Amino acid sequence: MTRVTIVEVGLRDGLQNESVILPVDVKRRIAEGLIRAGVKEIEATSFVHPRWVPQLADAAELAAQLPRGQGVRYRALVPNAKGLERALSSPIDEYAVFLSASETHNRKNINKSIDETYPVLAEVVERAQAAGKRVRGYVSTVFGCPYEGDVPVSQVVRVCERLLEMGVYEISLGDTIGVATPKKVKETLEVLLRYMPVERLAGHFHDTRGTALVNAYVSLEMGIRTLDGAFGGLGGCPYAPGASGNVATEELVYFLEQEGIETGIDLEALCRVSVEVQKQLGRPLSSKVLQSVIAE
Ligand code: HMG
Ligand code: MG
Repeated sequence: MTRVTIVEVGLRDGLQNESVILPVDVKRRIAEGLIRAGVKEIEATSFVHPRWVPQLADAAELAAQLPRGQGVRYRALVPNAKGLERALSSPIDEYAVFLSASETHNRKNINKSIDETYPVLAEVVERAQAAGKRVRGYVSTVFGCPYEGDVPVSQVVRVCERLLEMGVYEISLGDTIGVATPKKVKETLEVLLRYMPVERLAGHFHDTRGTALVNAYVSLEMGIRTLDGAFGGLGGCPYAPGASGNVATEELVYFLEQEGIETGIDLEALCRVSVEVQKQLGRPLSSKVLQSVIAE
C-alpha cells in the first residue's frame, strides 16, 4: 500500500454538532487552509433541514463561496428531494446520501423508518446521476447504535446492498458513536466483503472511546483505502447521544506518513487550520498530534 485517500469531513461532521455558529467567511477560510494543506476531498456542508442542523443552514451561501482549483472536489450531504434541489443549484461536485443500519437511529436522524428511506434515497441518487453527479453512501451505526446497542451484521449487509443497487460509488461505514474495536471491525468487514468489493468501502470512525485510529489501521489491513477524518478531531452526530469527534485528520496523516503511506496532506499546514478553528470555537481541539505540533 502506497497511498490512502483522506476525505476531510471537518466542515460538515466536525462543525454540525458545534453550538457556536461559525460565519460563512470563516468556513471559507477553513476551506482555503485545507486546500493549502493539500486536501483534495472536502465534505463542505449538508443540504439538510436548517432547523435540524443550524450550523449548516448557510450551505448554499458557503457552496457559492468555496475556493476552486488545485484539483479540489467538494462534497455535501443530501437527505431527500428537497435537499437535492438545493444541492443542484449549488456548485458542489458530488453528493452523499445517508441512512442508518439501526431503525431507531434512522428515525431520530432523518425522521423515517429504514424501509421508508430507501425510495427517498433512490430518487436522490437517480436524479443526481442524471445531472452528472457521483453519489457516495453513508451507513451509520454499523458497529453499534446509541438506542439499540448491538446491530446485527446482516442488517448492515442489507442496507449496504440496497445502497449499491441504487448506484452509490462507495459506502462509508460509520462508527457513529465510536464503539468499535479492531475485532469488531475485522469481523464486520469479513462478512461485508463476501457481498461487495473492498474498493467500494470507506471507513468513518468516531473516536468516542479512543479506538478510531486503531480501527482505521485494521480497516487498512483489510484492504480499505479511503478514510474519513476531521481536522482537530471535531465531530459528532446531533442525533446520536454520546457521539463525539471523528478520528482527527492530523492523527491519520501523522500515522500514515510515518508508515510510509502517502496522503498528499501537509501536517503543519493542516495544523494551522485547526489552530484557527480552536480560536473561533474558543477551546482546544482534541487532536493529540495537533496539540503536540502546537507545543513544539
Ligand atoms: P422532516 O421534518 O421529516 O421533513 O425532516 P419533511 O419531508 O416532512 O418536510 C418538512 C418540511 O421541511 C417541509 O417544509 C420541507 O420542504 C422541509 P414545509 O412544507 O413544511 O414548509 N424540508 C427541507 N428544507 C430544507 N432542506 C431539506 C428539507 N427537507 C425537508 N433537505 C429531514 C426530514 C431529512 C429533512 C430531517 O430529518 C433532517 O434534515 N435530518 C438531518 C439530520 C442530520 O443532518 N444529521 C447529521 C448527519 S448524519 C451523520 O452525521 C452521520 C455520518 O457522519 C456517518 C456516521 O458518523 O455514522 C454521515
Ligand atoms: Mg460521522
